[in-house]
Amino acid sequence: MDTIATSATADTTVSNDDFLATVAEKSNGAALRGNYEKADEQYVVAQDWDAYTEEEHELWRKLYQRQMELLPGRACDEFIAALHKMDASGGIPKFERTSEELFAATGWRIVAVPGLIPELTFFEHLANRRFPITVWLRKPEEFNYIVEPDVFHDYFGHVPLLFNPVFADYMQLYGKGGLKAMKLGGLDYLARLYWYTVEFGLIKTDKGLRIYGAGILSSGGEVEYCLKPGTPSRHIHLEIERCLQTLYKIDSFQETYFVIDNFQQLFDGTAPDFTPYYERLKQLDALPANTLLPGEVELLP
Ligand SMILES: [Fe+2]
Repeated sequence: MDTIATSATADTTVSNDDFLATVAEKSNGAALRGNYEKADEQYVVAQDWDAYTEEEHELWRKLYQRQMELLPGRACDEFIAALHKMDASGGIPKFERTSEELFAATGWRIVAVPGLIPELTFFEHLANRRFPITVWLRKPEEFNYIVEPDVFHDYFGHVPLLFNPVFADYMQLYGKGGLKAMKLGGLDYLARLYWYTVEFGLIKTDKGLRIYGAGILSSGGEVEYCLKPGTPSRHIHLEIERCLQTLYKIDSFQETYFVIDNFQQLFDGTAPDFTPYYERLKQLDALPANTLLPGEVELLP
């Protein structure tokens, strides 16, 4: 597996203090969850697996079980197959073990992080085939909904598909694209691609539409909602530039789901230089999340 030297230079590195100050500012002074004191320059920490309580393992098992009841017939086969192999049903898993298995399969590793991390650092991890996973677990009262991603979302939702070689390559390409987008003023556009694929993507199969997006696969309600015929949400074929132009919802179910034919489509669509896309998009208004353009076909009548 290849890795790349990151294009980041010292002067673009965000200091921990700057990052936390920015987050505090953006969130009206609310502190981020997670302990950043022991994070290194790449925001990596030790998982400290022994510190998880039995109550937390029990909560994990309940979250896991709830999803397993919902996912058959809804999640894509690649996700389900990898999840079974990962064997994480018994409690919060040890990242190190999964990381070794993942490295053997696709050259990716898991790194533990305290919580949200700066965009630059996030892209650097992806570009080097490292997936950052938050160490803390939600509280029992957050069983159905959580604002910031926790270990259940990050691990359960994201890790299984990193065992798929094509999807794994797409994720690395996305990270490299993120580093480029930061210099081109393209981040807002590129973030939409992540949102509508990695977090909320659907895939066409011969058995019907299936879910591959982590934001759906790790949530209770949207798993059922996104594939239910008759809802007002759109299900349309993914065109990269169209997706980059489309706003998304962060506080409700998605109003549009972009559907891919296969993971190769994601990789191939992300391989070209996005510079011309960003230049065009800067001249255009963003599309509302519930847009259906002329010629676009609803794939879930
Ligand atoms: Fe996520």
